[in-house]
Amino acid sequence: MPSTVIVGAQWGDEGKGKVVDLLAEHADMVVRFQGGNNAGHTIIRDGETFKFHLIPSGILYPDVTSVIGNGVVVDPSVLIEELEGLRRRGIDTAGLRISANAHLIMPYHVMLDTAGEAKLGKLEIGTTKRGIGPCYADKAFRLGIRVQDLLDGKILRKKIAAALEPKQQMLRPFARDPRLDLHAMTEEYLRYGHRLEPHIADTARLCWEGLDSGKQLIFEGAQATMLDLDHGTYPFVTSSNPVAGAACVGAGIGPSDIDEVWGVAKAYATRVGAGPFPTELDDELGARLRELGGEVGTTTGRDRRVGWLDLVALRYAVRLNAMSALAITKLDVLAGTDPIKVAVRYRSSEGAVLNDFPWHQSILHTAEAEYEELPGFEGDIGDCRSESELPKEARDYLRFVEEAAGVPIRLVGVGPGRDQVVWTGESSRQLRAA
Ligand code: GDP
Ligand code: IMO
Ligand code: MG
Repeated sequence: MPSTVIVGAQWGDEGKGKVVDLLAEHADMVVRFQGGNNAGHTIIRDGETFKFHLIPSGILYPDVTSVIGNGVVVDPSVLIEELEGLRRRGIDTAGLRISANAHLIMPYHVMLDTAGEAKLGKLEIGTTKRGIGPCYADKAFRLGIRVQDLLDGKILRKKIAAALEPKQQMLRPFARDPRLDLHAMTEEYLRYGHRLEPHIADTARLCWEGLDSGKQLIFEGAQATMLDLDHGTYPFVTSSNPVAGAACVGAGIGPSDIDEVWGVAKAYATRVGAGPFPTELDDELGARLRELGGEVGTTTGRDRRVGWLDLVALRYAVRLNAMSALAITKLDVLAGTDPIKVAVRYRSSEGAVLNDFPWHQSILHTAEAEYEELPGFEGDIGDCRSESELPKEARDYLRFVEEAAGVPIRLVGVGPGRDQVVWTGESSRQLRAA
């Protein structure tokens, strides 16, 4: 398997963690390249559940180097908690490497995220309130604190003071909060630095060394294409670029270092937080799929909004990421739903047919999805391990999606467990040959 970028093809929570975990078995490095602990990636192994917010989903393999790249925003308290949690479960995390250039989420970023949402009121984005937006804003404003700053008390204190200065007014409601005390904050972050120091590294160079010696690298995306700051449903997006192109910037590699791009999509769709969602099912069926799919946010515990698979958005994601393959997850959740609908185009409020994802926000907000109905399938498919074991209607559904998307489906999820997967086409042939 050559170097591969894994991205979310919808609005997040597609099962990227599980797909990365599966592919990491044959990889040497797994590199997160953007986002922060707004992500929640779930891996279920032998009945044990792991939820990662910052740690790359390759960490469960002792021989795989896990890397947090420069494009990630790191809340050190969350990272340390995650490391401790894994240590308690007997997982060796000594090999984790964190970019010295990654930016740090500071207590004031979390406060500003919460305050910003409160100020927006009904217009809120529905962020995870983890400080992601304010942290990336400081990075762009060149007021960010980086991981390497944790290693020098003097620099750290100076930088925190400089970052706090222009925020005084916005932070006024938190003026008495002890977490904002310059001295206490500096001391707290120096302690984090002490704890994380063995992991801090020049991670771009690690990637180059890996690539140049023929190692297999996986670049693990967080969030998803439709939440991309540039290409998603702005402003209802995250503050980083989850598209595949960002793997280069966020890890420090070049486009020609990437051989494959896999998009992960559910067999239906979900979205957490506010923003347009043309195929949303605001009804009993939506509630049923939410229940069957366990569609509750890994990070915030919020109910996920549920809808039909949206091929207009999926085709957009395929092109934007130049995907070479798709992984379709949660096909099992659609069992017993008949018919299964798939959005094949939108219609604007003025009656125009829209085959392409509309660039204009007003058109998108008022567009209605038009559907093709496909026959449903019955029964538990959780034990299927090859395409031929899937019901014919399930196979037809996959073929329909594959044809519309224009890229091969290489993997199908038939349950949350690690083994609950059907490798299709080329991948199943490779597996048989192995
Ligand atoms: P991520 O953020 O893209 O890594 O996805 P999440 O972990 O937030 O959400 C995906 C959820 O679906 C997790 O609870 C997974 O355990 C679960 N999951 C992944 N693949 C499948 C599948 O094929 N079937 C079912 N039923 N659940 C799955
Ligand atoms: P994974 O990696 C789903 C959503 C939030 C909100 C918007 C902005 O698990 O797929 P932010 O806190 O990033 O400023 O919030 O983005 N969001 C996610 N939705 N999965 C995620 O990550 C998400 N990370 C952020 O709900 O709508
Ligand atoms: Mg998630």
